[in-house]
Parts: sequence; structure tokens; C-alpha cells
Amino acid sequence: MQIIPTDAIKPGMILAKPIYRKTDGVVLLQENVELRESYIDKIKQLDYDYVWIHDYDSSETETAELLEPIKAETREKALSMMRITFSQFKQHVSINIEKLQTLIKDMLNYILGDSRIVYIISQIRSYDHYTFLHSVDVCVIAMLIGSIMGLNRNQLEILGVSAILHDIGKALTDFRILNKPAKLKPDEYEKVKLHAREGYELLKSRTSLSFVIPHMALQHHEREDGSGYPRGLTGKRIHPYAKIIAVADVFAAMTAERIYQRPVHPFLAIREICSNAPTKFHQATVDCFTKIAAPYVRGDILRLSNNQTVTVTYISRNKCLVKVISGVNEGEIFDLYRRPELAVTQLVK
Ligand SMILES: [Fe+2]
Repeated sequence: MQIIPTDAIKPGMILAKPIYRKTDGVVLLQENVELRESYIDKIKQLDYDYVWIHDYDSSETETAELLEPIKAETREKALSMMRITFSQFKQHVSINIEKLQTLIKDMLNYILGDSRIVYIISQIRSYDHYTFLHSVDVCVIAMLIGSIMGLNRNQLEILGVSAILHDIGKALTDFRILNKPAKLKPDEYEKVKLHAREGYELLKSRTSLSFVIPHMALQHHEREDGSGYPRGLTGKRIHPYAKIIAVADVFAAMTAERIYQRPVHPFLAIREICSNAPTKFHQATVDCFTKIAAPYVRGDILRLSNNQTVTVTYISRNKCLVKVISGVNEGEIFDLYRRPELAVTQLVK
């Protein structure tokens, strides 16, 4: 069973779950119905984002299925909630943590609903909302890593709330420093570093949260070798959730487009994070991270060690379909993950 966006539905696919009318829950299409053009038009008209279908071999049709770990509407909801939360903290108002917890539960339901979900870097970038987008991205990545590490539902919920609030201390950081379109001066960097402790103090004093959550704001910049801040903690003294949030935080930050920084390609960002384990990042956490972070996005062009040039047409946790666009067997589609003898030698585009 797989979940696919409505704009990728094709005639012949079989529904794996019924489609209900949004207004009153009446079944519009039953499970196991084969989708025809007329049904597909109706589904699109009714504004459904995704449908569940029985496993479908996308290699036959080159269907580029989209498996995003967060629905567009949930992302929007999360962004607006983070905007409100940051401003409440700034104005010294207590935050509504229940709403945030409900959102995390919804996000978890989705993430845990399909074991093929992989984190594909978002193409939606906005300088104005960077901190909010970043918080949501870190939350999704952290929960995906946590799910691979075997955390239970309750633990994942606490991890999710910790991750979405990890940078809340930035509500108190000078906006001009946070959005400075250039490298920070040493004194400015010291001011940014205060956000870890300030986030901890804010969360501890203004909410009735599990003690873990403020501690994750405090610890997410600590590193295994003691080179992090604010306390320079080493491996054993860093909470396992902070190790997860640290990896998620760095990956999301590296792959984001900022005013002063071109985004790093996810393949290179993953390689960089791996090269910093176990010195900076916890090895087992990084091992799980590499299972849920997609190194490529659809449309990437890669040169392989056999001199083939391929384009990525589909990616999930266990499958990366590529189509040969030059070299031997032009037009062939194969799963790159099942060809361990082939190395990617160059990211062409
Ligand atoms: Fe941070």
C-alpha cells in the first residue's frame, strides 16, 4: 500500500483505502476500486491531496511518485503555529502547548503510516520564514530518525515537540543578526549562541512541559567531542534526543537556501554529516539518519562510475529509480539502490 498525491494518480491504479466525502464522511469510492479517468477527475475536483493505492510498480510507467514526509496543508498549519508560538514567547505570553502537541500527533500519524517515507528536502524556501520552516523541517527529520531508532509513540511525541521548539530561544535574538545577509562577526555569533540557554529558560519558566523539552533546546548544539555549546558536554552527557535534533538541525540548515548561503546538495550534506561521526555526531544516530534522508531529489542528474548519466525519477526509503539519459542502455530505468557496484561520481545538476 502506498500514499500518492492526486496529481500523480494514473488510470488502472487500485484504491487501497476508501475515499470519504469531507463534509459528512460518506464513502465516495470503495476500497479496491480501479481508478478510471472520470474518478480521477472527481478526486481532483474535490481537492484531495493524497490517496492510498495498492502497490504500484512505478518503474513500468516512470511515474514520479511524491513521498513527502509532511502534507502541504500540515506544513502550512505548522508554520503558522510556529509563527504564533515565537511571537507569544517574545511577548512573554504562555504558549498553547496542547495545540502544538496535537499537530505533532498528526505529523506522526502520517510519518508512521508509510514505512517508505523518506525526507526529501523541501523546494519551498522563504527567507522571511526561515526560522519557522527550519523548526518544522527539523521536527519532521528528528521524528523520522527517532522512528528508525525504535522510539515508541510517546517518546516520538516528546521528541517532536522538543524538535519543533529547539530554536525557540531565537525569539529573543536580534532579528537583524538572525537575518544578516553576510557571515556573522564573532560578537554577533556569541549573541546567536545565547539562544540555546535562552530557549531553555523560556521553556522551563513559561510552560508545563516534560523536563526533557527545555533540555533539548539547551543541548542541541552540543557535540560528541565536547566542542559544542553552551556547556561543552561530551557524548555520554548529551541526551539521545539532543543527538537526534543536532543531526536534523545541521542537515536542514545546510540544505536550506539563505540570503548569504547557497543550499548544499543533500548528497553532499549527508556525506559531510557522516564524515563528522563519531567525532561531532553520534554514530548510531547518523546511521539511522542516512536511512531516512533522501540524498537526491527528483530530476537530479548523476554521473555513474560506469559512465552512464542518469536522471532520478523516483525516490523512497528503499528505492531510487533512475533513467539512463546517456551512455549504455539509454532509456533503461533501474533501481540505483540495488546496484551497489555503481558509485555516483558526479552530481551534474
Ligand atoms: Fe539552534
